[in-house]
Amino acid sequence: MSTPVSICVIGSGYVGLVAAVCFAEMGHQVICVDNDKTKVETLRSGGVPIYEEHLPELLGKHLGRGVEFTTDLAGAVEKCAAIFIAVGTPQGDTGAADLSYVEAVVSEIARSVTDYKVIVEKSTVPVYTNEWVRRVLNRHGVDAAHFDVVSNPEFLREGTAIIDFLHPDRIVVGAGTERAAQLLQRIYAPLTSGTYYDQSGALPGVCSAAQPARILVTSAQSAEIIKHASNAFLALKISFINAVANLAETVDADIEDIAAGIGLDSRIGPKFLRAGIGYGGSCFPKDVAAFHYVAQQQGLNFQLLEEVRRINDAQRDVFFNKVRSSLWTLRGKRIAALGLAFKGDTDDIRESPAIDTIKRLVEAGATVVAHDPAAIDRAKAVLPPSDKLIYSSDLYETAQNADALLILTDWKEYSKLDLPRLNRALRFPIIIDGRNLYKPEEMSDQGFTYVSIGRPATYNAQQGKPKKLVL
Ligand code: UDX
Repeated sequence: MSTPVSICVIGSGYVGLVAAVCFAEMGHQVICVDNDKTKVETLRSGGVPIYEEHLPELLGKHLGRGVEFTTDLAGAVEKCAAIFIAVGTPQGDTGAADLSYVEAVVSEIARSVTDYKVIVEKSTVPVYTNEWVRRVLNRHGVDAAHFDVVSNPEFLREGTAIIDFLHPDRIVVGAGTERAAQLLQRIYAPLTSGTYYDQSGALPGVCSAAQPARILVTSAQSAEIIKHASNAFLALKISFINAVANLAETVDADIEDIAAGIGLDSRIGPKFLRAGIGYGGSCFPKDVAAFHYVAQQQGLNFQLLEEVRRINDAQRDVFFNKVRSSLWTLRGKRIAALGLAFKGDTDDIRESPAIDTIKRLVEAGATVVAHDPAAIDRAKAVLPPSDKLIYSSDLYETAQNADALLILTDWKEYSKLDLPRLNRALRFPIIIDGRNLYKPEEMSDQGFTYVSIGRPATYNAQQGKPKKLVL
């Protein structure tokens, strides 16, 4: 085991909390700081504020040993060699990331730096943030010899965040000095040397002692751009496949076959080519906008990113129109909606296409009965229940007597529905699947009219194929 490093993580959101417990799992001494007292109390008592696999067990394992929680930022900074900033960088009005939380934290850090610290940006930030952090520290009178600023972006996905952290495709460290780069290399040594993977109780994943995690050391600016460009590129892949899906549909081709055919080219790869109702979540929409803004600030017109966003927005309309054209009128219809979260395996509803679709259906006069295995409480906070919006935690009750059923989130359990039971529950056996979880032929064999994305619709054999209508 390499030498433990004392690490302070500021912010206990998705990125901060996952980083804190994973650093502890890697053998480091971690203090996680948040200014939300209630949250800190919850974490201190072993409570986990987010739905994330492995998080409760890792927190239980390290709480009070490798990781502690506090509201005392100054005290934590004083004790630690590396200070990771993992606070929110929400989208501002212009599309730019709002860095006021980062600046506030840096000003507070400045008051407590008396000996050498490495200050690490873990939040997703635009290029040159490292330079701004340095300037703020200078303005507060911190001696330049007492700190370095490093960019160490995080690539974890919600739902698989812990495994993504411990088994990363790559670790990116953007450091201007050898001294700072070395400290980060020491922090990640258990993963890059592979010793972590040999430990008893190590969480299994793609990395191993024989094939440990890779680290890439770059300049801070390059690291900042790597983060934005990675998210923008993944969003681009999704918008691309959705655009191809819409074309495929007009010529009776099948987007699943097309995606498989494209993805087999090793230069393209099969991932992030799943057509659907468009991407959501706390990262892609915000980061595509922020990256576009960064380019604009530098006098560049990165129009491609605007198009990625446009296609993504339009995909929600494509799906909504499918619902409308399957049901004719929406007023007075009862619609079962499976899924509220922006994707499966999370309770996060930020920028969720499911929430947007449900809102539009209710506005159009339909009654929606919505189900989600984890996100109902969060959804109720933004779309309160009413006589037009009913939440149900029972899947088949959700479908009971509905005029159609929509699949809005790719939860695993939605791909294993008891189809005969579902058919009996629905008033009309119509499924409009925004996630392509089923094979169209299988659904018509089961007596459903099945409409999905980028594939020909299939029909209940008795009713046959209706005439194509232009709505
Ligand atoms: C993303 C990045 O993957 C991660 O590296 C980064 O750190 C944060 O942003 P996350 O937002 O958790 O992670 O979700 P992800 O699994 O990437 O999915 C994003 C959205 O794209 C979801 O709405 C998902 O449903 C959608 N998606 C994903 C598709 O529509 N098709 C795909 O093929 C893949």
